[in-house]
Amino acid sequence: MSDATGHRPGEVAVALPGAHDAGLYFIGRIRTPWATRGECPKNGLQTEATCTLVVDDAFAAGLQNVEGASHLIVLYWMDEAARDLVLQRPRHAEGSRGTFSLRSPARPNPIGLSVVALLGRDGATLSVRGLDCRDGTPLIDIKPYYASTDSRPGATVDRAGTAKPA
Ligand SMILES: C[S@@+](CC[C@H](N)C(=O)[O-])C[C@H]1O[C@@H](n2cnc3c(N)ncnc32)[C@H](O)[C@@H]1O
Repeated sequence: MSDATGHRPGEVAVALPGAHDAGLYFIGRIRTPWATRGECPKNGLQTEATCTLVVDDAFAAGLQNVEGASHLIVLYWMDEAARDLVLQRPRHAEGSRGTFSLRSPARPNPIGLSVVALLGRDGATLSVRGLDCRDGTPLIDIKPYYASTDSRPGATVDRAGTAKPA
């Protein structure tokens, strides 16, 4: 249950700085089957849906050689997310948690990250599997996923927040 501000009990919002520290160029848009946030899967492993990354003409040359990667890291701007929450209460959680301990889209810089399978390329459009965002979500970046350096098979998350980095 949220209050008049839209916050759940235990959630804390802060006053955001008056100015941004950096600007972004959206390099395209993500097309997905989900018209609203509520329809999206919680993460990209929960769906087999094919989505597309539609890169703007201005940046299309940057896709050269991208087919060499079986998987990509996709970064996107979660444009409907709150940006002022530092403590938030996930829907089914008992208490609140720090924003930086969560994968929630609500964060000062609402950057979404997914590792996707690259299914194919047609010009400036990439077909991928493994996304969880609303149709039309702005695309920020595409990078090759290197299992050799990006994968940490032994990584864990202790939900009590007591795990120490190895
Ligand atoms: C839990 S977040 C995870 C995002 C990304 N995989 C990550 O880990 O950074 C995924 C959820 O964000 C929400 N969402 C999807 N598109 C969004 C958008 N454009 N703006 C804000 N929230 C969005 C949906 O509720 C979706 O289930």
